[in-house]
Amino acid sequence: MKKSKKRKKSNSWKIKQHRDQFFKKSKTLGYRSRSAFKLIELNKKYKFIKSDNKLLDIGACPGGWSQVSSKIISSGKILSIDIKKMDELKNVSFLQCDFLQESTKEKILNFFGEELDVVLSDMAADTTGNKSLDCIRTNKLCSDVIEFSSKILKPNGILVSKLFMGDDFLEVKELAKSKFKKVDFFKPEASRSESKETYIHCAILKTL
Ligand SMILES: C[S@@+](CC[C@H](N)C(=O)[O-])C[C@H]1O[C@@H](n2cnc3c(N)ncnc32)[C@H](O)[C@@H]1O
Repeated sequence: MKKSKKRKKSNSWKIKQHRDQFFKKSKTLGYRSRSAFKLIELNKKYKFIKSDNKLLDIGACPGGWSQVSSKIISSGKILSIDIKKMDELKNVSFLQCDFLQESTKEKILNFFGEELDVVLSDMAADTTGNKSLDCIRTNKLCSDVIEFSSKILKPNGILVSKLFMGDDFLEVKELAKSKFKKVDFFKPEASRSESKETYIHCAILKTL
């Protein structure tokens, strides 16, 4: 993309962002991202985060979801991970690492030392400009999270993950249904209407 076109696009994104009610609200309420409101809406609908939860937040940076979780969890444990560095948050442990690496999964297991109540993933692959490729890459992350969650969650644990309504959406849905008894989808109001993003809510692990 030419430089002037790129600058125009980023300026129009900035204008949109500043007009956005969730962006304004996040600044007023001290949330690090407008994404925080997506988790607030998801938790309002499914009521899954409890004060004593052991919760993993994958793709946590800049930390909006971790902030929301830490306001609710008082006697549990929160681990947030991201490839990018995240500023410290009270009552939240952070690991800077790539979720797709096997060593990361070992670190997560060592940190909790027992099964988890909640796994959250708002991971999104870096955008390439090719929307259908971006969709596939983010949905691959979601599939990996589903596989991993089915191994580390308590039988009645909950998984909430971002995914895109792309060509491989049904594949991801089928994978989730093979692991969990209840699978549902919800697009929060804070998720931009023009985005193909939605969230999958999975509950009650299937026993093999
Ligand atoms: C939309 S942001 C998350 C926003 C966050 N939920 C919040 O409320 O502030 C997506 C994040 O996923 C992270 N991410 C993407 N791929 C990842 C991977 N393989 N491992 C860990 N983090 C990843 C990105 O670095 C980015 O910070």
